[in-house]
Amino acid sequence: MYDAIKTLHSYFAYFVLLMLIVAVVNAIIGFTTNKKFTAKDLRISLFALIFTHLQLVVGIILYFVSLKGFTMIQQNGMKLDSASRLLALEHPLVGILAIIFITIGWSKHKKQETAKRAYGKIALFYGIGLLLILSRLPWKDWWNLY
Ligand code: HEM
Repeated sequence: MYDAIKTLHSYFAYFVLLMLIVAVVNAIIGFTTNKKFTAKDLRISLFALIFTHLQLVVGIILYFVSLKGFTMIQQNGMKLDSASRLLALEHPLVGILAIIFITIGWSKHKKQETAKRAYGKIALFYGIGLLLILSRLPWKDWWNLY
């Protein structure tokens, strides 16, 4: 069970990051070139939103089946070394914060009156979310860098 969920979370991360990068770059291009906001732009932003939410669900399950998640906090309280703190606290919390930003960006973009402003909301909020996620990814575990 643990292995399957962790593998899923680990591979799905590539799609999540790829979709977020595509959405942010697409929004920056739209913002700077005064393009119309088309169905394609909507779909790109929506897919990035759905992918991050799916990763959130898998991440929450992983948090409770992994010995490096909730169990780590139960056993050690807040006395964690930096590698354990990254997996048990920083990565999950910053990940959730990032997804909140992305969700706010999605709902705000829908209320904008011009395409430029809609692109702007996606670029800003998805961009912040992407940077937050990247800042707290367990890169060493992910790519087996030891
Ligand atoms: C938002 C996007 C997220 C991305 C792109 C992401 C990506 C990753 C990656 C690449 C790993 C390393 C996997 C490996 O060692 O092969 C990981 C580990 C982990 N993630 Fe996430 N994650 C995200 C959100 C979350 C959230 C929201 C939670 C929990 C609420 C979470 C919980 C965990 C846990 C507990 C681990 C460590 C599992 C272990 O090594 O036993 N993740 N994540």
